[in-house]
Parts: sequence; C-alpha cells; structure tokens
Amino acid sequence: MSIKFNVNGFPYEVQPSDFPADITLNTFLREHLHLTATKFMCLEGGCGVCVCVIRRRNPTTGEVHTRAANSCLTLLNTCDDVDIVTDEGLGNKGSGYHPIQKRLAKMNGTQCGFCSPGFVMNMYGLLESKAGHVTMAEVEDAFGGNICRCTGYRPILDAMKSFATDSTISVPGECVDIEDSFELLCPRTGQCGSGGCSRATLSTQNDSHWHWPKSLADLFTALSQVSSNELYILVSGNTAHGAYRRSRDIKHFIDVNNVPELKQYSIESDHILLGANLTLTETMEIFRLAEQRAGFEYCAQLWQHFNLIANLPVRNNGTLAGNISTKKQYPHFASDIFITFETLDAHVLVHEHPGAQRVLTLLDYLHDTTPNLVIGGFLLRPYPTTKYLFNTYKILPRAQNVHAYVNAGFLIEWNDDQHHIVQSARICFGNLSPSFVHAVEVESLLVGRDLYDAATVSEAFERLEASLQVVEMPPEASPEYRHKLACSLFYKFLLWSAPEELVKKQKRSGGLLLERPLSSGSQTFETISKNYPVTQPVQKLEGLIQCSGEAPYMNDLLTTSNAVHCAFVTAKRVGATIEQIDPTPALRCKGVVAFYAAKDIPGVNNFNNASVLVVEPEEVFCSGRVKHYDQPLGVIAAVNHDLAVYAATLVQVTYANEQKKPILTSMNQVLASGESSRIVQMNKSNGENSTLKVPLAPGDVMGRGILELESQYHFTMEPQTTIVVPFEQGLQVWCATQWMDLTQYSIAAMLQLDASLVQLQVRRVGGAYGAKVTRCNQVACAAALVAHKLNRPARFVQTIESMMECNGKRYACRSDYDFVVRASGAISMLNNNFYEDAGCSLNENVVDFLTMPAVRNVYNLNATNFKVNGSAVVTDAPSSTWCRAPGTAEGIAMAEVQLEHIAFASKLDPADVRLVNLRPGNKMVQLLPRFLASTEYRQRRHDINAFNAQNRWRKRGIGLSLMEFPLATSIGYSYPTTVSIYHSDGSVVITHGGIEIGQGINTKAAQVAAFTLGLPLEKVRIESSNTVNGANAMVTANSMASEMIGLAVRKACDTLNKRLQPVRQALGPNATWKQIVERAWTQSILLIATDSYKVGDIPNYNIYGLCLTELEVDILTGNHLIRRVDILEDAGESLSPNIDVGQVEGAFVMGLGYYLNELLLYDRQTGRLLTNRTWNYHPPGAKDIPIDFRIELLQKNPNPVGFMRSKATGEPAFCLSVGVLFAMQHALQSARDDAGLPREWVRLGAPTTPETVVLNAGTEVQRFALK
Ligand SMILES: Cc1cc2nc3c(=O)[nH]c(=O)nc-3n(C[C@H](O)[C@H](O)[C@H](O)COP(=O)(O)OP(=O)(O)OC[C@H]3O[C@@H](n4cnc5c(N)ncnc54)[C@H](O)[C@@H]3O)c2cc1C
Ligand code: FES
Ligand code: FES
Repeated sequence: MSIKFNVNGFPYEVQPSDFPADITLNTFLREHLHLTATKFMCLEGGCGVCVCVIRRRNPTTGEVHTRAANSCLTLLNTCDDVDIVTDEGLGNKGSGYHPIQKRLAKMNGTQCGFCSPGFVMNMYGLLESKAGHVTMAEVEDAFGGNICRCTGYRPILDAMKSFATDSTISVPGECVDIEDSFELLCPRTGQCGSGGCSRATLSTQNDSHWHWPKSLADLFTALSQVSSNELYILVSGNTAHGAYRRSRDIKHFIDVNNVPELKQYSIESDHILLGANLTLTETMEIFRLAEQRAGFEYCAQLWQHFNLIANLPVRNNGTLAGNISTKKQYPHFASDIFITFETLDAHVLVHEHPGAQRVLTLLDYLHDTTPNLVIGGFLLRPYPTTKYLFNTYKILPRAQNVHAYVNAGFLIEWNDDQHHIVQSARICFGNLSPSFVHAVEVESLLVGRDLYDAATVSEAFERLEASLQVVEMPPEASPEYRHKLACSLFYKFLLWSAPEELVKKQKRSGGLLLERPLSSGSQTFETISKNYPVTQPVQKLEGLIQCSGEAPYMNDLLTTSNAVHCAFVTAKRVGATIEQIDPTPALRCKGVVAFYAAKDIPGVNNFNNASVLVVEPEEVFCSGRVKHYDQPLGVIAAVNHDLAVYAATLVQVTYANEQKKPILTSMNQVLASGESSRIVQMNKSNGENSTLKVPLAPGDVMGRGILELESQYHFTMEPQTTIVVPFEQGLQVWCATQWMDLTQYSIAAMLQLDASLVQLQVRRVGGAYGAKVTRCNQVACAAALVAHKLNRPARFVQTIESMMECNGKRYACRSDYDFVVRASGAISMLNNNFYEDAGCSLNENVVDFLTMPAVRNVYNLNATNFKVNGSAVVTDAPSSTWCRAPGTAEGIAMAEVQLEHIAFASKLDPADVRLVNLRPGNKMVQLLPRFLASTEYRQRRHDINAFNAQNRWRKRGIGLSLMEFPLATSIGYSYPTTVSIYHSDGSVVITHGGIEIGQGINTKAAQVAAFTLGLPLEKVRIESSNTVNGANAMVTANSMASEMIGLAVRKACDTLNKRLQPVRQALGPNATWKQIVERAWTQSILLIATDSYKVGDIPNYNIYGLCLTELEVDILTGNHLIRRVDILEDAGESLSPNIDVGQVEGAFVMGLGYYLNELLLYDRQTGRLLTNRTWNYHPPGAKDIPIDFRIELLQKNPNPVGFMRSKATGEPAFCLSVGVLFAMQHALQSARDDAGLPREWVRLGAPTTPETVVLNAGTEVQRFALK
C-alpha cells in the first residue's frame, strides 16, 4: 500500500494514508522532505516557480520520459515509480553546481531569485527530454509558463539559449572552462519505472479513496466502487485544477496514468487514433510524425496551435481527455483542443464499461449525460490537401500561456480542382459564448459558392456578423471585441488562402499572424578599473545560490510541527457594517485551531503605523464599516495551508446598514457620481483648482485630451509571507518586508509590546516593487496575533487570490489636459488637471510627494505657460500603495503624452516638438540630438511610414520617450550598517538595515567594502538584515537604498581603516591584510564599525533617460510585436553595471506590462475584483519583451552629488515604457487613415490591450474584401 519514488536519487516510500488524499508533490517536497528550492506562488500552473523534473515510464512503450512538471499541480499519489529531480539535486555547494545554474548566475539572470530554480528546472527538463539537442527557438518557446517579474527575461533567455545546439550566445569564459568537466545531463540515479507493485484501492485519512488501475478493466472496477452520490476524478495531469478548481468533496481519485489503453496511439492511412490520456506534449510529438503522412499534413498546423496551449510543464502533464472533459464540465472554457478537433470533425471514443465502446462526435459527447463515461481516445480523419483547406487560430492577450480571447478553426472541402468552389465548410469559433461553436449560416452559405468571389466574401461577412452569438463573460474581453475578432479571423483565413492574384497587394500581409524572430539584446556601459570592484560588472553575490535554490526565502524557514497556517477571512459587503462574525462552521473542521478578529487585538488595530505619508490608521481587521470588497476582517489558523484557506470561506458574517449607493471602485465612477467629497486636493499650496488661459495668436494650435492609466498589481513572485515564532517574552519574526522598522512597530503596537520584544530578520525578499513597504504588514500583524495568542509558530503565506483581492496596488491616474501651442509646437499654455486613485484611504499619497515634481519632465513648463492641479480620489477599492516608480511614472507619462498629443495636433514630428520645448540648460538638450542620431530615428520613421503605406492590416509605429526622474532622498532618515572584520582570517561581514529585494543592494555594499578596505570581493559577505543592527532603518524603496547603504558601508569602512592605520604603518607596506587585522586584534582595536546614512548625505538629483520603441501591430487581431527598443539611461558612474542594466531592463519590461497587458477588472455591483489569478491577469512573459533590446548606460557621466558618482536605477526605466503608447498611436493612425476615419488623436492609456487597438482601428467587418 505504499508509493515508491526517488527524489534526487534517493528512494522514498510513503504511505498515502499518512497524508491528505490530494497532497501535491510541492507540499510533500517542501514540508516533508524540506527541499525548499522548489517554490510556490500561484498554485495553478501559471507562474513556474514550482517546476521540477519528473521521469516517468510510459505504460505502453515502457520508455522513460523526462518532463518538467508543475509540482503545485502534480498529486503525490500519481508519483509512484517515478524519478523526481529538484534544483537541489541538480547541483549544490556539496556536489558542485550544474552548468545551467552557473550560467544563469554568471549571465546575470537573477535578481530577487525567487523564480530562478523554476527556470533552471524547466531548462533541465527540456534538455534531458531532448537529449541535449535543443535549438534556440525551442528554448525561447519553452518558458511561457515561467514568470519573472524582475529581470525582463533577456539575460535569462541568453543564459538558456547558450545551451542550444545552434547557439550564437557568447558564454563567459569562466563558465565554459569549468563546465568542460561537468556532464550536462545528470546520470539517472534512481530506479524509475522498475515495474511497480500492483496496488489495491486504499482509504486515506480523510475518507477519500485512491485507485491505481493498470488496465481499462481495472479502471471500471474502480469506477464500480464509486456510489452514485459520490464525486470522483480520473486523475492524469491534474492540471485542470489550475484552470477550474477541483471540488473538495471528491471521494475517489482514479489515477489513469498507468492505463495502457489510454496512452496508445496509431497512425493509419484512414485515421489517427490518439489515446485519451496522451499528454499534449506526447500528442504534439505524434503530430510531428503524422504530418509526414498523406492526408494528415494538417497535423503541422495542429502542432502550431497546441504549442500555444498553456505552457510547457502543463502540456507535459495535461492530457487530451482532461481538456475535453473540462470543456464538458465548464462549457464556457475556451478549449483549444475542442475548437481544433471540432473543426476537423474529430470523434470521441467513449467507454461506458470495458466491453461497450461508442464513437461520438465531440458535440454529442459534450451533451451526453451518461454517467461515468470514460474517454478512450480521439479519432482524426485524413483531409488530403488536394481536397481540403484547413487552418486554426488562437488570439491571446500576451504571447504565450493564456487561454484565447477567441480561437477558431476553418475547414473547407473543395468541389473543384482549382480550389474555389466549396463543397462543404466547417467554421468554428471558441470563447464567444458557452454554446456557440459553428457559424452554421456561413457554413451553409458557402456550399457551392466560389470562396474568393467578391460577392461571396461580402455576403459571408454580412451573415457572419449577424449570426455570431457573443455574450458578456466577465472578465473575458468585451463582446464587441470578440465579435470583431471572430470575423477578422475568418477574414485572415481568406486572405491567407486566396490565390495571390485575388488579393490586393497591401492586404496580403493581413493573412498572416505576426511571427516573432529570436530575441537578442545588447548592453553597453563603462567600467573604471581603478575603482574595482566598484563599477566592475561583477556577478550578483547571491546569484549562484539563488539559481541552485540554496538561497532561503521567508517561507523556506523551518518551524516546529505545532506551527499553524493562516488565512484571511474577508468582508463581502462594501459600505455595510460588520454586525456579527460566526466562525463556528470553520472551527468545526478538523484541524482548524482558531479564529481571531478585531476584538482580539490587545493593542492598536492598525497595520500601517508609519509616521511619514500616513494620514489615517489602516485596520488589520475591519471592525466596522467595510471599505472595500475582500477587506480582511479576521484570520483563521489551521494545521495546514489549504485547510486555513478553505476554512476561511466558512466563517459567517452578518452585516448591518447595507450601502444603498453604488459602489465606486474607479475614479471615473467617482467623477461621474458627483461625490465631490471623495476628491481631495492634497496640498492647497498649489493653489485652488484653476486653469490658465492665453489669447490665441495666428497659427496657434489648440487641443485637449484625457489620459487614463489604470492600476497595476505588483505580481511579486514571492507571496506576502510572514513567519512568527514566540520566543522568550516576545516574538521572532521573519517577514518579507521592505521596511523592518515599520513592520516591527506595527506588530509591537498591535500587541502592546515593546518594540524590543519584536525582532525581525530578513534574509532576502523575492520581489517587492513597493508591495512590501506597508502592505506586507497586514499579513505580518495577523500572523503575529495568531502566534502571540496561541503561543505557537504561525505561518502566513497569502494566496495569489488573496493578495490580489485584499492588497492595494499602483495608484491609477487620470489627466484632463488642454493646450495651446505655437505653429512650431512651442507650448504657450498647458493645463493639467490630474487625479490619482487613492483607494479607500489617503495614505501613501503620491500626488504631491512624487507626481507633482515629475509633471514638467524635461520641458520648459513654468508659471507662465503651465498650470497643474492634482487631487487624490477616494474609491471603494483597497488602499493604493507604492508600486515601482509610484507617482513619478504617472507624472512623466502625463508630460510625455501631452507632448505627443501636441505633436499630433500640430502635425509635427514628435521629436521636433520635444526639441523645441526642452527646458534650456536641461541635460536633455545635449542628449536628445545624440540619441536621435544614434538610433537613426528619422530614417526609421520614414521607413515605417513607407511600410505602412504598403500594408493595410499590418502597421508599424515608433515612439520616443524622455525622462527626468527626480530622486527625492529627503526621507532617507537612517540606514544603519555594521561592518565586522574577523581577526582569524580577515574575512568581512556586513549587516545593514536595507533589504535585498533583487536590486543588488548586497552586491553593491560588498563592492564598496572591498574597494574601501582594499580586499578581494570574495572576502566580503553580507548577513541577514535584522532589527538589532538595522534598528530604525528607513524603507528600502524609491530606488535609493543601495546608495545609502553603500555610503554607510563606506563610512564604517573608513572608520575601520582609520583604526587600522597605525597598525598598517607599524607593520610596513608588505604586511598582508590578515597580519594587519590579527595584530589589531591583539591590540584590542575594535574590528566592528557601525555607521549610518543621514539625511542630506546625498542631496536630491535627477536621473535622465531616453527611449525609442518600435513595434508592429496586426490591426485585425490587435496583437503586436515590439521590434526594437533602445534605452539610453543615465546611471552616473554605475556602481555595478550588470546589476544596473538588469534594473533598467526589468523596470522597462514591468512598464510594458502596465501599458500593454495588465488589466484589473471589478464587478460593478459588488466591487469584487474579477481578475485575481494568473488565469486572468497577465504580466509580460518571455516572448513579450522587445525582440531587439538595446541598453546603454550613459558613459563619461559622473554624478557629482551621487554616492561614488553613481545614480539610482531601480525604478526610472519604468517611466520610459510609456513610449510604447506612442508607437502604438503611430501605427493605429495609419490604420485609421486607411479606414477612412477623420484624423483624430486616440486616447491610449494603460493598459492598451489588443482589444483597445482593434476597437479604435476603424475596421468595419462589412468592408472586408480581398481586393
Ligand atoms: C496554466 C494553464 C493554462 C492553460 N491554458 C490552456 C489553453 O490555453 N487552452 C486550453 O485549451 N487549455 C488550457 N489549459 C487547460 C489544460 O489543457 C488542461 O488543464 C489539461 O489538458 C487537463 O488535462 P489533465 O490530464 O491535467 O486533466 P486532469 O486535471 O487530470 O482532469 C481533468 C478532468 O478530466 C477528467 N478526465 C481525465 N481523463 C479522462 C478520461 N479518460 N475520460 C473522461 N474524463 C477524464 C477528470 O475526471 C477531470 O474531471 C490550461 C491549464 C493551465 C493549468
Ligand atoms: S506555483 Fe506552480 S505554477 Fe505557480
Ligand atoms: S528574479 Fe525573477 S522574479 Fe525576481
């Protein structure tokens, strides 16, 4: 009755009855084997941090296949007889590091490092599965399921592509030398697939049953044990859980992975049989074989389409039947397998019992209500190319790993040799409505008609437009877009298939989808060898241990077995008052330990106890009026994480005084509602709201516009996490925080303890971007309360749904502006009335502090020609918070959009309008002409216009963006740092009050210490930040902490140098460092020095940047490719160029997500966030980045006031990404012009999704024609 498997070569045998029936491999690895390199975040196959490698024997062929898998979806009980490899097994400090780990580290592929083990393991799985023979294209394709929020992917892709057989990536010499002696693929150490014992059905603890049938007959025996009122699941990949959550009430788990009948396939001349539970990866391999056979050439297209389903680890484990069965259970599921197979009229082989086999059409299967139907396989017919035409489409919100906006398949049977007259047609669309599939009216219209005849085309689109049934399915895209997209796809099909002479030349490119070539990048910077290791492009200090998974994050900390896990209980009635909370149903669950609410807090119910930028308390638990949907009102403590999350949903809440007024989750709703009390002008010194007016002169141009920038979720890969352990009189706290001091004090005040009794330690944080400045404290306070009350360790890791629903995000922004400019484009009047969405509290307001200083950007805007009013708007959403370049990004975006709009209105080149408006004496006066020349701006703009004239449905655009980023150092009160030298060997350790969040603060600190003390970098280590040595440290945010810590390190090192000076002198110039410190120790010289940054040590300064973005858009779908990006950024004398380039790339790509992908949608009735998961919220992936990504750090450019003449890099490049809107505007204007629309500025904001593009392009379906 046991499950046997190997993990990293070590055999394990577990009794399933010892674990919950649905325990995942991830939980088992992390909690039972303590192999914490394998992380988790989304728990739904959408982020990739949990990827490990599984070697499994195919039950039909006996072959062992290696595949990357999402351990968060893989159920432990499906792991019998498999080999599992985790990052620890691949390489470590004991056995040596694996080449993938080393290259990723060496090639600058990690920042916070939380995603790194997942990337390593995905690459390892790919390499082993293909015996090391992968191309660069395959590598680039393979990471759709691995999200990295920090790096912008370029260095990761470079490192991974360097393993390809056709690699052109140069690998640092050190890597190659060491790797020569290292076998790329690990030897198989386990005994995978040794046959396995035949296990009977067994009962598990929680009354569920697992079955492991070895044949179809066995499977039905297992099914016969399921009584009619019980739920069961046939488990293959268990990946459907990532899309639609499995019921908690399942009583029978039937593992079908070892049923040979379901894994077989055959390719015959008249059909292909695909076993039901072939994985999508296996199916794609079969397609590769089948496409060679007459009649099955269409399998090449199926391969392409399947390659866009989910992501590699999900395809490696998810199966055909799992997908189609999910479509049966959830008719609104935009299944790609369904749409492609239905177009091909694939049939389903089903079994009611072993002897009874039926063949059904797919639609009949979906509607068949026979209980316990088992899909045995799928049958595909041949469609010879002489007789048939076939294609399918899938349009996604980003390049990979999202279900379709709309998917479609078209199959035409010809009646003539010329391939014009239609014999029959299958025209299928997905994701329009749960029931609509076939465009029957068009299918029948086409029969007997010439497919490419102008009248047929026109009539077909008329019918298609009228007959498509598209319904609202929030948060899916609007029916209007999906309707237009469906029509466009059929049009694309016609443009693609029609003989060339029948299609107007300019329209031909509309028949193809955008094809992305391999991406590449260049990084140019200066280093100054006399300052080494400062300015040296060194490897990130923790890079290697991040890549090997040895670098611990908060949740990797072990606690004793009596630890409890926490989850928030949240309020669901915005505006109502909480009258009563009844946790009894939750507490009744076995394993639920406690529930606490506001009344249980002994001290202050406030998690944001900061003295700066906080105007009102923010409750840990709502105690009265509910401010937003899913506001936490209490916390459940349970013996495991899943149980805590589930039990939290059982707590009953009674509300009083329900709000009658509409819930206003956005600024536009507030502005429309007329509730002026919600609009707060923060700093009245700007003057009351008023606008400038100027008399118009001849030739003057005037205009007005609105810019809307929506909010953005931080999407840290490490969830909000706090572990609290009661210790002596107080608490030891491990919290993923950017501001230990605030977390410490918020907990202490809440528990009425002295701050000294609450001690924090922070080793590193797995992505922050502002999310962990204050918002982390709600989790920290809740965990501390639980630990304090129960006197047991408490662990709180927020789920992605909880983080997205409960926590504040970026300030949304709206600007209403109007302008008057001279014919030259020079601004004579610009009014900017802007609003920023504070959410439900005015805390952390960015309006005056950060946006106001940025709104003029580099332009000559002064009291005579510029008036700006800024207000915060209170909405019924979580309180907004800092998010990479908060406020500043919006300020610069407003200025840049206004300049771009002015250029448009004046019919001038946007670069010329910028040149004419630059503030005299501004650094940009020199930089801009140089940048325009080096990027060949004018020639490229000309070429793009020529391209656009030749292409009706493909458009290109180019967009320039400039930046003056005002870095405010005024709140950097204190950044304490301690440098200690060990007399025994002279090694040095630093601990500081900053936080390593991926920005490289530790590496920079070590470089400074090594330089100042005159030591090799390897001699310096950084220890965890903590609230003893880092007491009272200010926040690590605003891009500035690295410099401040660097400065504090230098001060401490200067002190040490001063103390050592007499010893140095006494020992003479030949004394070694070790001799000096040893002698100093014997003289009782203190080898520990502490110092701090103080306000004023570094004055405020500006950071400059320029960016040129070129893109191409498919006007029919709205999809785009970013063809090239050039960034020139001013980093002063970069302290650590690899790290600074990484910051620039990462910040820019995060900005691309903001402007192009990331959409937050709320339910208007309830205020509930609808986009709360990786399934429906989409930060950029590896194939969304610029194809040609060129970064240059401005050279010979010391910052006279900066620390060691450097400048900050963490946030500024985010602001440059606004240029993508201008490139889009350029492209869109050409399409609108072609569509015959009047010349008008299009309001593009954040996000400008494919939907925005299509709905603004002026495309009319009735006008679709080939000529
Ligand atoms: C991140 C992510 C992205 C995705 N993106 C896409 C996408 O873009 N397009 C798309 O089409 N899909 C997408 N999917 C869905 C994915 O294709 C399915 O999850 C997968 O195919 C399910 O297969 P499975 O083997 O894991 O099924 P499981 O999760 O193991 O099972 C799912 C269901 O199928 C039933 N079942 C399994 N085998 C049989 C059988 N032989 N007979 C009858 N019933 C059976 C089970 O009882 C269960 O109810 C995505 C999924 C994830 C997690
Ligand atoms: S945790 Fe498994 S994919 Fe995100
Ligand atoms: S380094 Fe990839 S998420 Fe931080």
